[in-house]
Amino acid sequence: MAIRKLGNVEIHVVEDPVRLAAERLVEVAARSSHIALSGGSTVGRTYELAASMLPDWSLAHVWFGDERAVPPDDERSNYRLVKTTLLDRLERQPEAHRIHGEQPAEIAAALYDDELDGVRLDLALNGIGPDGHTASIFPASPALGATDLRAVAAEAGLDPFVTRVTMTPPMFLEAELLVYLVTGEAKADAVRAAFAEEPTAFAPASVIRGRRTIAILDDAAASQLPQG
Ligand code: 6PG
Repeated sequence: MAIRKLGNVEIHVVEDPVRLAAERLVEVAARSSHIALSGGSTVGRTYELAASMLPDWSLAHVWFGDERAVPPDDERSNYRLVKTTLLDRLERQPEAHRIHGEQPAEIAAALYDDELDGVRLDLALNGIGPDGHTASIFPASPALGATDLRAVAAEAGLDPFVTRVTMTPPMFLEAELLVYLVTGEAKADAVRAAFAEEPTAFAPASVIRGRRTIAILDDAAASQLPQG
């Protein structure tokens, strides 16, 4: 495994990113902790593997970095993804704090903001979209400036085009560990913008950091990073 630092981000380029991300997840889920999970197509296998590695998540609180404004049984729901790939496979459940996507997004965001009062994340697991978004903070999103709220409603910049609810930058900034899990060549430019170029609102993942941030990448996603 090759590990190096770009700015304050530890870059891990590994053969099996899913496994490394699952290992990080279960280390934290085994203790009393607050964990924020994300949606998208890359994380599902990580959740499945994490469930098989650790069947007892009863000490953990599971939160959502973002959600789509859809009911919890909708196939676009991040809650549904986490339920089917993780929660339904566990012997002992964490306390899951879902975002009420079936409500209007402004209301769901306000409820979530309240529920997050006093919560500091031990771990947030985020993806990065090909446009550089993370959670549901899309390029040039007003959510980037939401410094006095923990969750806000946000518009989607990519499919699925449904209104979102997202945690805001301060929630991630305060997180003990922010893990970015990114694979595939289609993300290589976004990975470069996130970790090897100047932070910009046009690539939100370049701005969103935790107290400690690690990026878990495969060779393809890392292929546009400077050599070193
Ligand atoms: C969401 C996300 C989002 C995701 C990235 C990467 O709900 O869509 O939380 O930020 O993590 O878009 O998703 P992919 O792995 O599908 O590219």
